[in-house]
Amino acid sequence: MTFHGKTVVVTGVSSGIGADTAKLMRLQGARVIGIDRNSPTLSLDGFVRADLSEKAAIDDAIAMLPDHVDALANIAGVPGTVPADTVARVNFLGLRHLTLKLIERMPEGAAVVNISSALGRQWADRLPEHRALAETPSFEAGLAWLTDYPPPQDTYYQYMKEALIVWTLTQSQKIYLERGIRVNCVAPGAVFTPILGNFVQMLGQDHVAKEAGRVKRPAFSDEIASVVAFLCSDAARGISGVNLPVDGGLSSTYI
Ligand code: NAI
Repeated sequence: MTFHGKTVVVTGVSSGIGADTAKLMRLQGARVIGIDRNSPTLSLDGFVRADLSEKAAIDDAIAMLPDHVDALANIAGVPGTVPADTVARVNFLGLRHLTLKLIERMPEGAAVVNISSALGRQWADRLPEHRALAETPSFEAGLAWLTDYPPPQDTYYQYMKEALIVWTLTQSQKIYLERGIRVNCVAPGAVFTPILGNFVQMLGQDHVAKEAGRVKRPAFSDEIASVVAFLCSDAARGISGVNLPVDGGLSSTYI
């Protein structure tokens, strides 16, 4: 797996999974441009500060990105302990807006990887809603749809990760056939990053204690980063339209 001569954009680059993904891809030769609302703590080839919850800020960020991008890793995200509107904007609507704009600058053979979550595993239970949301044509139309059909507050984070999975799976083949660009999701289980505590708060101690026996341990963020890098690389050139669990076997325990 090598990224020599490749330009990669990584969102959420200033912490956790995004930081480890950027570091790994740079080590493998990529020119990495990071996007985050916070300053990065690692060496990058470029950095754009942006609040990915705001469409105008995303458009400004896009204007500062290179004309040629070989891979986009959409890693920025917020937990369900922040206001629902922010969860919708960052974890789905902003990500989708950035992706649809940036793929215009991507050549055949490029790749997009979105970070979903093991918590998005029940996407099929709400498929009609997610299909309808996926089909909204813009950031604003998505916000309006969510006002008309408000998701349940107690599973808002899960709902938005489900929405991301359904959008990825339903759009990926069209994008692949028309443009030769692969689009996939990586679905981590619990990962040791600064927001892990927020997930415990979001799910409740009882729920977390009950589920804990399903896996050996939470992942380290480099264990997610290596899979994101793989899916961005030519080594994964036959893979498109998947939501790949990287959860230490968690998803297999729900069968
Ligand atoms: P993190 O908190 O370490 O990193 C998230 C990054 O996103 C931060 O650098 C933050 O500044 C950035 N970000 C958040 N909101 C932003 C905004 N409005 N504009 C620009 N940047 C923004 O968290 P982690 O764990 O690395 O999360 C990465 C992704 O992984 C997220 O999408 C999260 O939902 C997902 N995930 C995390 C899991 C975990 O247990 N840590 C489990 C499953 C999924």
